[in-house]
Amino acid sequence: MASSATRHLLLLSFLPFLPIFGASNVTLGSSLSAIGDNSSWISPSGDFAFGFYQLHNTNIFLLAIWYVNIPEKTIVWHAKTTSPVPSGSKVELTANGLTLNSPDGPTIWQPQLTTTISYASMLDSGNFVLSSSTNSSAYLWASFSYPTDTLLPTQVLPLDGKMFSKLTETNYSQGRFVLHLENGDLRLKQVDWPTDFLYPFYYHSGTDSTDSSQSGFQLVFNQSVDIYIVKRNGEIVHFWKCIDLNSPNNYYRATLGFDGVFRLCVYSKTLVTDQSWSVLQYQPENICNMLDVYSSGVCGFNSICKENSGTPSCQCPPGFSFMDPNDKFGGCKPNFPLGCGVDDGSRKPEDFNGRCWKMKMPLSYGRMSGGTTIIKIRRDVPPSGNSDAPFSNSKKDNHIFSWPLLFGSSSFFNILLLVAVSFFVFSRCQKNPKKTLHDSNALETNLHIFTFEELKEATRGFKEELGVGSFGIVYKGVLNFGSKNQVAVKKLDKLSPEGEKEFKAEVNAIGRTHYRNLIQLIGYCAEGPERLLVYELMSNGSLANFLFSLPRLDWYSRTQIALGIARGLVYLHEECSAPIIHCDIKPQNILIDEYFIARISDFGLAKSLTLNQTRTHTGIRGTQGYVAPEWFKNSPVTVKVDVYSFGVMLLEIICCRKSVAMECGEEERAILTDWAYDCYMGGRLDTLVDNDEEAMSDIMMLRRWVATALCCIQENPLKRPTMKIVIQMLEGFGEVPIPTGPYSFCLAS
Ligand SMILES: *[C@@H]1O[C@H](CO)[C@@H](O)[C@H](O)[C@H]1NC(C)=O
Ligand SMILES: *[C@@H]1O[C@H](CO)[C@@H](O)[C@H](O)[C@H]1NC(C)=O
Ligand SMILES: *[C@@H]1O[C@H](CO)[C@@H](O)[C@H](O)[C@H]1NC(C)=O
Ligand SMILES: *[C@@H]1O[C@H](CO)[C@@H](O)[C@H](O)[C@H]1NC(C)=O
Ligand SMILES: *[C@@H]1O[C@H](CO)[C@@H](O)[C@H](O)[C@H]1NC(C)=O
Repeated sequence: MASSATRHLLLLSFLPFLPIFGASNVTLGSSLSAIGDNSSWISPSGDFAFGFYQLHNTNIFLLAIWYVNIPEKTIVWHAKTTSPVPSGSKVELTANGLTLNSPDGPTIWQPQLTTTISYASMLDSGNFVLSSSTNSSAYLWASFSYPTDTLLPTQVLPLDGKMFSKLTETNYSQGRFVLHLENGDLRLKQVDWPTDFLYPFYYHSGTDSTDSSQSGFQLVFNQSVDIYIVKRNGEIVHFWKCIDLNSPNNYYRATLGFDGVFRLCVYSKTLVTDQSWSVLQYQPENICNMLDVYSSGVCGFNSICKENSGTPSCQCPPGFSFMDPNDKFGGCKPNFPLGCGVDDGSRKPEDFNGRCWKMKMPLSYGRMSGGTTIIKIRRDVPPSGNSDAPFSNSKKDNHIFSWPLLFGSSSFFNILLLVAVSFFVFSRCQKNPKKTLHDSNALETNLHIFTFEELKEATRGFKEELGVGSFGIVYKGVLNFGSKNQVAVKKLDKLSPEGEKEFKAEVNAIGRTHYRNLIQLIGYCAEGPERLLVYELMSNGSLANFLFSLPRLDWYSRTQIALGIARGLVYLHEECSAPIIHCDIKPQNILIDEYFIARISDFGLAKSLTLNQTRTHTGIRGTQGYVAPEWFKNSPVTVKVDVYSFGVMLLEIICCRKSVAMECGEEERAILTDWAYDCYMGGRLDTLVDNDEEAMSDIMMLRRWVATALCCIQENPLKRPTMKIVIQMLEGFGEVPIPTGPYSFCLAS
C-alpha cells in the first residue's frame, strides 16, 4: 500500500512536466484531436509521443510518433494515409482498435486486427502497441511492425520487410528509395517516382544464399546499437556495429533518407547545447555514383550531384536552373529556348561549330568527378534566370564534372550539346573476405617474378602510358626476356583492397591460360605494396579503335576477329582447368596483335570458378551496355553473362557502332540491341549495317550473324547458347532458330 501511495505521489509530482495523457496505458474510449501540437499520448519516460504532428507552417497533420524532447521534432513513424489529415481529425481507441476519422466523419486509417483489444501503450522504446488483457506481452498490433523510414533500437525488420524514404525533406509521402530485406539480402533500391518501377539495387549486404540456412532473415537493431543481419543458422553479419554502453543517454535511429542514403544517427539526451542529429554511419559511400545510369539519379534530370561525407547536394549546370527552387532534388531546366532549327539568320554558317544534334532526352547522371565536360548551348539567346555563374555560351565552359551517359525518356528536350561520353564502370563488387584467393594460388603458376627495380627500368620510370585499365595504368616497357621484348606493364593502384583482389584474380586466371586468342601474362611483381603485371605488348591497340573510327575495318577482318574472340571465350569457359568467367567482355578489352588476331585481355574482373561450382553469386562486375540482365536480379551469374556481352559486342562488330549512341532524330537507333532486333524482324539489314556493301554481299551470312547475336542477348540466360554453339552458328554449322519475339526466341529449352 505504502509503495503504491509513493508511486502516486511520484506521479503527481511529475505531472506538471508531463502532458495531459502522461500515463503509459491508454484506456479504451480515449481519443486525440488534431487541433494543436499538444495532442498526444506520451511514453512513461517522456521520450516518445504518439499523436497528431502538425506539419511545419501548415494546418495539416500526420498521425505519428516523434521524439518529445528534441526541439526540431523528428518523426520516427507515421500512419500511411494517402495524404496528411486536416485539422479537426480525430483518432479514437476502442475495443476494435484505433480509428482515424476525418473531421466530417469518414474513417481514413485503421490498423488491421483479428481480435479485440483492451488497451494501448506508447512504450519507451518508441513502439506504440495495442494489447489484450489476457497477455500483455503479446501485441495485437505494433508500430514497429509497420516501419516507415526509420528503425529504432530493439526494432527488427523481418524477412521481406520494407522501409520507404519520404519524398522530400518536408513531404512525408512515400518517396524514391526503398530498403528491402529481399531474400535475406538487405538491398537499397531506387524507385522510379511516380511510377513504382524498381531499379536494380545500388547497395546490398550480400547475405542471400541459395542455401536457405545461409540466408539472412532479420535485420536487428539491438539495444547496444549493434545493427546486424541474422541468418537462419543463427550466424550474425554485422552491418553497423558501434556498441554504446552509454546508450540510455542517447537517442539513436537508423533512417533511410529522402536522398537514398541509409544513416545511423545519434542525439544526446544530456547535452543541453544546441545540437542536431549526428551521423555515425551511412551507406552507400557516394550515392552520386551508385544509382542506375538510366534513372534520374538523386538530383533529378539535367542536374549535377556532388557528394560530401555521404550526403549529396545538387546543382544545375551553367544555363540551367532548378525546376522548383524549393526542391533542390527535383532536377533542372534549361534557361534557353529549346530546338536547334530556329535561327534569326544573322549568323554565317561557319558560326555553327560542328553539327547540330537535336538532343531528345534530358541529361541524367551528372556528377562531379575528374573529367572535363563541354556543354554547348545556343549563343543567340543569353541564359537568364537564376543560374549561378555568368555564362558565356560561345566559349567552352570549364566547369569540371563528368557526364558519363546521356539518357532519359522524355522527348521535350533538345539543345546543342556535345559531351565527352565515357561509360560508367559498375564498381559494386561485393566485399566477401571469404572468397579472396589465397596467396599460395598465385605461386602455382609458371610465371616470371620480376623485381620492382627491373620493371621500373624496363618502363624507364613508368614513362610511356599506354592506357588506363581497371584499377591501374598500363605502361610500355622493354625487357631482355625471352622472345618478347616489348611488354605492357600494368601497375595496379596501391593500397586498394579491390586492386589487391584483382591482382590475385588476374594472376590466377591468366597465369594458367595459354591460348592464341588470349593475352599472355609473362610475369608479375609483388614487392611490398607494389603490384604489377607484365603482358606481351599488342602493337595494334584495342578493337574499339578499329570499330568506332573511320575508315572502318573490312568485313572479313571483323568476322575473323569475332570468331577469334568466340574461340577465346570457349577456351576460358570450357577448356581451362577451372572455368573462367571474364565478366567484362567489350571492345576495349579485346586487343589486336600484329597479325590482326583478337586477344582477350583484362582478366581483372575475371571470376575463377572451381569445377564443382559453375554458378556464382557476386556483386555486379562489368560495363554498362554490355552487362547481362541477371546481374541485376537475384539469379546466379554463369558463363552466360559473357555470352550476353559477346552478343552485344558482336552487333557492334557487325554494325561498326557503339551499343548505345545518341544522334539527332534517331532515337530508334539509340540502343543497338533493340534496333538490331527491329531491323532483323523488319528485313532491313541494309539499314542496320548502313549499306556496308561487303557485309551485304553475303546476305545469308549477315542474317545468320545478326540472328546469332540476338540469340546471345536473350533475357533468360538458359536460352542463350554456349560459346561453342555460338561458333557453330556463326560458321553456319549450327541451326539458328528464327526469332519470334524480342529477346524471347531461340533454343527453346
Ligand atoms: C497496463 O495495463 C496492463 C494490463 O492491464 C498492466 O498489466 C500493466 O501493468 C499496465 N501498465 C502500466 C504502466 O500501468
Ligand atoms: C493544447 O494547449 C492549449 C493551450 O496551449 C490548450 O488550450 C488546449 O486545451 C490543449 N489541448 C489539449 C488537447 O491538451
Ligand atoms: C504471451 O505472449 C508471449 C509472446 O507472444 C508468449 O511468449 C507468452 O508465452 C504468452 N504468455 C501467455 C501466458 O500466453
Ligand atoms: C507531397 O508530394 C506529393 C507529390 O508531389 C503531393 O501530392 C503532396 O501534396 C505533397 N504533400 C505535402 C504535404 O506537401
Ligand atoms: C547487442 O549485440 C551485441 C553484439 O552482438 C551483444 O554483445 C549485446 O549483448 C547485444 N545487446 C542486447 C541488449 O541484446
